[in-house]
Amino acid sequence: MKHLKNLFDNNRHWACQTTQDNPEFFKVLSMQQNPDYLWIGCSDSRVPANEIVGLLPGELFVHRNVANVVVHTDHNCLSVMQYAVEVLKVKHIMVVGHYACGGVKAALDGEKLGLIDNWLRHVVDVKEKHIDKLNLIEDYEKRVDTLCELNVIEQVKNVSQTSIVQDAWDRGQELTVHGWVYGLKDGHLRDLNSCTTNSKELLGIYQQATKEVFER
Ligand code: CO
Repeated sequence: MKHLKNLFDNNRHWACQTTQDNPEFFKVLSMQQNPDYLWIGCSDSRVPANEIVGLLPGELFVHRNVANVVVHTDHNCLSVMQYAVEVLKVKHIMVVGHYACGGVKAALDGEKLGLIDNWLRHVVDVKEKHIDKLNLIEDYEKRVDTLCELNVIEQVKNVSQTSIVQDAWDRGQELTVHGWVYGLKDGHLRDLNSCTTNSKELLGIYQQATKEVFER
C-alpha cells in the first residue's frame, strides 16, 4: 500500500488535467527550463511562490528558507543564485517576505526555539540595526510587519552584494533585484521600492527604501 495515497491521487489528477489542457506540456518542459525569475522566499506553507504570481512550472526558479534570509556564506542559496544567474540567465531576482512571518516574530521577541535561533540571528541583526525606531511602534503586529519589510530590504542588499550579482552587473548582464512583501490576509504582493539594477544605486536605494518603511 502506498503511503500518503491522497497526495499521489492529487498528483495523477493534476498531471492528467495539465496534459488535457496542453498535451505537449510535460514533453516541452522535460527538455528545458527557461525561467526569467528567481524567487527567494520564506518556507511558510501559506506562501506558494508560483501560485501567487500565476506562473507555471518552468517559469520560476525558487529558493525558500525560513524568513527569506540571504547569508553571504550560505552555499545552498548562493549555488541557487549562481545557477540562476549564470546558467539560466534569469533577468529578475525577487526577495519575497511576508507579513506576520513566524521567523521574524521569533527574532523580534527573542524567542528560543533551538537550532533555528542561529539562523534567525541574521534577522535579529536587522532588528538591532533599527531597534530605536522599531521600539517607537506601539502596535505589536505593526512592529512585526515593519521588521518583515526591513528584513526584505536588507536581503535585497545582501543579494546585490554577492559576487554573483556584482559579476553579472560588471559583465553588463541585465539583472534586477526586487524586494516584495506578501500579505497573508489579502493575498496581495507589495513592492518595497528597493528595486536595484546596478552597484552604484544600491546604497542610495537601500537607504531610501528603509526610510520609507517607517513613513508608512
Ligand atoms: Co515566514
